[in-house]
Amino acid sequence: MHNFTFYNPTKILFGNGQIAGIAQEIPLNQRVLITYGGGSIKQNGVYAEVMAALAGHSVFEFAGIEPNPTYETLMDAVQIVKDQHIDFLLAVGGGSVIDGTKFIAAAARFEGEPWDLLAKHAPIADALPFGTVLTLPATGSEMNSYAVVTRRASQDKLAFGHPLLYPRFSVLDPNKTMTLPPRQIGNGVVDAFTHIMEQYLTYPVNAPVQDRFAEGLLLTLIEEGPKALATPENYEVRANVMWCATLALNGLIGAGVPSDWATHMIGHEITAQYGLDHAQTLAIVLPNTLDVRRTEKRAKLLQYAKRVWGLSSGDEEQRIDAAIAKTSEFFEQMGVKTWLSSYGIGAEAVDNILQQLERHGLTALGEHQDVTLATSRKILEQCVAA
Ligand code: NZQ
Ligand code: ZN
Repeated sequence: MHNFTFYNPTKILFGNGQIAGIAQEIPLNQRVLITYGGGSIKQNGVYAEVMAALAGHSVFEFAGIEPNPTYETLMDAVQIVKDQHIDFLLAVGGGSVIDGTKFIAAAARFEGEPWDLLAKHAPIADALPFGTVLTLPATGSEMNSYAVVTRRASQDKLAFGHPLLYPRFSVLDPNKTMTLPPRQIGNGVVDAFTHIMEQYLTYPVNAPVQDRFAEGLLLTLIEEGPKALATPENYEVRANVMWCATLALNGLIGAGVPSDWATHMIGHEITAQYGLDHAQTLAIVLPNTLDVRRTEKRAKLLQYAKRVWGLSSGDEEQRIDAAIAKTSEFFEQMGVKTWLSSYGIGAEAVDNILQQLERHGLTALGEHQDVTLATSRKILEQCVAA
């Protein structure tokens, strides 16, 4: 196992009725800006519950943070934070609202052009405190310090992170996920699954705790994910999916082990260029990444085949083929397509996406930094069609 430092200060308020608890988490004298998306929180009662909980606070609102949040929209919120002397942010929504709020928190206290936080990884010295009320289990943003922001004008989708960007608290009430449309349930499960794979499916470093933990999370998603589609009002199923997605990317399973993230980096470029949902890109890229990199990932692929899919017969290549096929089948079962052609995107996209990877300096990806543009090309060529 590699050396590591583990730090995660986010307080989790999990379960039915926990939104009421946010009043105790934000000092009464703070001026609070609630940030949210396109309005789902108004339809499912989350907005009303949050407002009731904050009845004694001085509350402002910023609506309209879009999926794949944009710098352009978020800068309007930064202006409100400054004009209204906001002390505390409360993100209410999915990963996009939470990521957007992290950017607002950092940008409002940054001297200079805030896009540099993403484009140049400009150092962060300060950020507004914030909490979250999660409505879509997927990204893990509610318990990590990363955010991904898109600049509409240049079609850049870039990530940044800083320890000051851990939420002070996050409310996870599984009831609030019951209004999710099937597309977002599927997306959430595929995203969480891929987060686990990015940290688990690399090469062995004798870290059985992290491995067994990751395998347990993968198995939970395989068992509970389809139930969330089939029985959308089952609280227990929603609770297990929600906690699984948080644990998939809160630092725990990634501590002391190598991580890959090539699938995510390639996927972000596909979203920026073609507008696919984040998880739609992952369902396409992950199986093909595993296939193209099967030599480097051999030991872990065989472990994954055996422990997650129960595949122990046949020769090694056959077991790896079957494990990759099972992964794609699971994504399809969750309603998420696994080919670029499913979205009407053809071979002409390959060069375009490679150019963006090059422009962003993403030319040495993966756990060995050996996913060059040539390897990304192979992966993308395979992604086009079955
Ligand atoms: O905007 P509203 O009206 O709220 O609707 C949203 C949105 O249209 C809707 N929704 C959310 N909760 C709902 C609901 N609809 C009904 N009932 C509910 N309870 O779902 C739609 C998608 O929301 P979004 O927040 O965009 O989805 P997700 O949570 O999947 O977030 C995706 C973003 O997170 C980034 C992605 O790149 C993408 O930009 N990621 C962030 C990460 C991180 N911070 O660690 C890691 C991830 O790998 C990922 O890159
Ligand atoms: Zn993701």
